Amino acid sequence: MTTLKGVNKKETGLFNVYPRFDITLVKAKGVSVFDENGKEYLDLYGGHGVISIGHSHPEYVDQINRQLQKIGFYSNSVNMPIQDELAQKLAEQSGYPEHQLFLCNSGAEANENALKLASFHTGKKKVVSFKGSFHGRTAAALNVTDNTKLSAPINKDNFEVEFIELNDKKALTEALKNKDVCAVIVEGIQGVGGLDAPSEEFFNFLAQSCKEQEALLILDEIQSGYGRTGHFFAHQYANVQADIITMAKGMGNGFPVGGVLIDPKIEASNGLLGTTFGGNHLACAAGIAVLNTLKKESLSENVMQVSNTLISELKTISCIKNIKGKGLMLGVEFDFPIKELRLKLLNDYQIFTGASANPNLLRILPPLNVTTEEIMPFAQALKNLLK
Ligand SMILES: Cc1ncc(COP(=O)(O)O)c(C=O)c1O
Repeated sequence: MTTLKGVNKKETGLFNVYPRFDITLVKAKGVSVFDENGKEYLDLYGGHGVISIGHSHPEYVDQINRQLQKIGFYSNSVNMPIQDELAQKLAEQSGYPEHQLFLCNSGAEANENALKLASFHTGKKKVVSFKGSFHGRTAAALNVTDNTKLSAPINKDNFEVEFIELNDKKALTEALKNKDVCAVIVEGIQGVGGLDAPSEEFFNFLAQSCKEQEALLILDEIQSGYGRTGHFFAHQYANVQADIITMAKGMGNGFPVGGVLIDPKIEASNGLLGTTFGGNHLACAAGIAVLNTLKKESLSENVMQVSNTLISELKTISCIKNIKGKGLMLGVEFDFPIKELRLKLLNDYQIFTGASANPNLLRILPPLNVTTEEIMPFAQALKNLLK
C-alpha cells in the first residue's frame, strides 16, 4: 500500500525535505510510468506538470542522444547556434515573434531574472502579485509568492510586494496609482494555488493598467505555458501581450531548462544577466525536440479535444462540484478533502494525480499527447470510487 511518507534521512543520506510515495520508477513511455516490479501507472501529473510531449518521446530521446555524441556542454562564452535555433522556433510558435529569449535552468530562476529585468528597466522596486500565487522558492521569486511559511528570516524585509485578489480591478488600480511599481507578476492559471485564473476582462484591464502606470507585466507561464491549455501560453485566450513571459517545466519535457521571453524595448547589455549552465547544448536539444513535436503532432488540437471529452464525462459525476482550469491543466473540485481519493487512485487504479493548496482539489497535468482512450480510465476510476 502506497502512502505519502517522509524519507528517512539516515537511510538515504539525503536532506529530508520531500514527502514521497513509496514507489520507485525505473521506466517511462508516453503517459505510462513503470515501477521496479513492472507495475504500470497512468501518469496524469507528469512530475509536477513537466512532461509535455510524453515520457521518452522518440524525437526527444533521439535529439538528446545525437547532441550528446557531438557536444553536451559549453558555457555562454562561445557561439551557440543551437540557442538561436531554439529562439527562432519559439518566436515562430509562441505568438511572440519579436520577444528575445534568455535561457536559464528552472522556473524560480526564470522569475528571478524577470523581476530583476523589470527593476533594471524601470528603476523601481515595488512589485504587485496575487493572493494564492506561487512563483518559486528563491529570493525574489519567493518574495512575490503568497506563502509566508516558505520564507526564512533572510527572506523577510526584501523589496515591497503588494498581494491583491485575482480579478480585483479596484485593488489593482489602487496598487499602481503611485507609479512606483516595477512589475505586476501573474500566473496564466494558478497551479500550486489551485487553478484560479484571471478572467479575460481582467487580463485586458491588467495589461492596459500596467501600460498607463509604467509597470511591466510579467506572465508566469512556467506551469500553464507550452501548449498546456490549447494556446501556447494560457494568457493568450485573452489576446493580451506581456512584456516578459517566464517558462520552464514543459519547455524541456524533463530536461532542466527555463526561459524568459523579453520585449525588445528592454535593452540587453553585457553582464546584465548570466548563468553557467543556462542554454547548454543538451538543454537546447531537449527544447527543440519539444517545439518540433508540439508542431508536428498538432498537440494544441489534441489538448482541446481530449480536454473537452474528459470534462463532459466528469460533469456526469454528481459529487464533482467544479472543474477549473483549461485544456490539460485541470482542477477537479469536491466538497471534501481529496487526500484519501488521491491515494486510492494511485493504490487501486495506478493513476498519478496532483494536489494543490486547495485541499478539495485534484490537479490534473497529463502529457499533452495523451489520448481520450488513455485518459478515460481516470473518469471511470472516479466513478467507481465515488459510488
Ligand atoms: C507557476 C510557477 N512558477 C514558478 C515555479 C517554480 O519552478 P521551479 O520549481 O522550476 O523553480 C513553479 C513550480 O511549481 C510554478 O508552478
